[in-house]
Amino acid sequence: MSDLPLVIPENPFRPGAGQRPVYLAGREDEQKQYRALLAQNPVMQNCILTGLRGVGKTVLLETFKPIAQSEGWLWAGNDLTERSSLTEEDLLTRVVVDLSTLLGPILMYQQQSMPLGFGRQAEVQTRPLQFQDLWNICKETPGHADDKLKAVLLRVSQLLAGTKIKGIVFAYDEAQNLADHASDKQYPLSVLLDVFSWVQRQRLPCQFLLTLTGLPTLFPKLNLARTYTERMFHVLTLESLDLVDAHAAIVKPIEMKHSPLTFSEAVISQIIHDSGGYPYFIQFICKEVFDAWITKIQKGEAPSVPAAEITAKLDQDFFSSRWQNATTRQQDFMRVIATLPSSNGEFAVQEIVAASRQILKKGFSASHTNQMLNDLINAGLIYKSRRGGYRFAVPLLSGFINRQIWDPTSLRTRVPKE
Ligand SMILES: Nc1ncnc2c1ncn2[C@@H]1O[C@H](COP(=O)(O)OP(=O)(O)OP(=O)(O)O)[C@@H](O)[C@H]1O
Ligand SMILES: [Mg+2]
Repeated sequence: MSDLPLVIPENPFRPGAGQRPVYLAGREDEQKQYRALLAQNPVMQNCILTGLRGVGKTVLLETFKPIAQSEGWLWAGNDLTERSSLTEEDLLTRVVVDLSTLLGPILMYQQQSMPLGFGRQAEVQTRPLQFQDLWNICKETPGHADDKLKAVLLRVSQLLAGTKIKGIVFAYDEAQNLADHASDKQYPLSVLLDVFSWVQRQRLPCQFLLTLTGLPTLFPKLNLARTYTERMFHVLTLESLDLVDAHAAIVKPIEMKHSPLTFSEAVISQIIHDSGGYPYFIQFICKEVFDAWITKIQKGEAPSVPAAEITAKLDQDFFSSRWQNATTRQQDFMRVIATLPSSNGEFAVQEIVAASRQILKKGFSASHTNQMLNDLINAGLIYKSRRGGYRFAVPLLSGFINRQIWDPTSLRTRVPKE
C-alpha cells in the first residue's frame, strides 16, 4: 500500500512507574503551590504530595526539582520504595549519604593536620567534603538519632552560610514506608518530623524543606507519629485529570512526536471514559491503541480500538498482582465493597456489614469489618479518608473486582450486577 508509513512511528506513550510522559498534562496549580512553599522565609510549612497509585506523584515530584533549583535551592532526593522496615540508623545514614553526595562536588572542607617532626607548623588541607566528615559529626554527637541529625544539619547550615544557596530540599518518594515500628522501638518518621520542625524553628541562614510523596496512607501515618504534622505540612492531593487535561494528555504527545497516526475525537472520548482520567491508565490505553493500530495498518486493515484486549491486558499488568496478594477472605471482603454503589468513592463500615450479610453465606460483623479494613490499609489497598470514610487506594479497582468471577460456594444470593 502506498500510504504505509516507511518507518514505524515511535509510540509516544509511556506507561510505567516514574516514566516521564512526553507531555505532562495539567498540574500547573500544584507547581504554583510548590513555588509558594519554596518562597517561604523562614520555612514554616513542608510539602506532602499524595494521591492514588499511578496518579502522577513521582513524575510531578521530578518537575519540582528544576523549579527548586532555579529558585536557589539544592535538591537531595530519594525513593524509599524498598525500605519497608527503615530503622532510625538507616534514616540517619540515608540523610548523611544524600547530603555528602549533594555537597561533595560543591563544598570544600578544611582540615588541620599536624605533620610529623618537632616544631613543624600545623598544615591546613582543603579538599571536597566527604561522607566521613558528616558521619564523624554523628559519631561525636552524644544522644539519639534525632540529636545526631540536628547536629549534622546545623553543621551543613554553617558550611552553606555566606553562599547564594537558599537551602536544601529533602524529597522522599514512597515515604509511607517511613512509618514508625513501635514493636521494634524504631521511630524513623517521628525522628524526621522532630528534626525538621526543630531546625525550622532555629532561623538558620540555610533553610531545610521536607517534601514527602506517597500514597494516601501517608498523611494518617504522619498524624499518628506526631499530632503537630497538621500544621507542619501543606498537602497537595493529586486527583485524576479533568476533561481538558486528559484530552491534552492524549493528543499532545502525538502532536509533539509528529506522529502520522492520530486518534479521532470519538476514540479520545472513549479513552478518557475508560481511563477515568487517571494518567497511568491514559498512558497504558493510548500505548496499546497506538501499537494495535500500527499492526493493523501494516496489515492493510482499518484501525479500531481493541477495548476487550486492552482491558484484559490492563487487568493482568496492573491489577492482578495486587489482587493475588490478598487472601481469599480479603478478596471476598473487597468483592462485597465493589458491589456498593459508592465503591468508586467513599464507603462506610455499616454499608459493608449490611451488604456482606446480604451477599455472603458468612457475612462480616462490624468488628471483623474494622479488622479487615486495617489489614487492607496495611496492604496499601484501602485508605481512610480525612472525613473518616474508607476508599480503595488503587484507582478503578472496583471495576476490576467486578470483572472477576465469584466462588459460588461463598455466596448466599446472586450478586447484584452493576
Ligand atoms: N500529568 C500527567 N500527564 C500525562 N501523563 C502522566 C501525568 N502524570 C503521570 N503520568 C504518567 O502516568 C504514569 C504514572 O506516573 P507516576 O509513576 O508518576 O505515578 P505515581 O503516582 O508516582 O504512581 P505510584 O503510586 O505507583 O508511585 C506514568 O506513565 C506517567 O508517564
Ligand atoms: Mg510513584
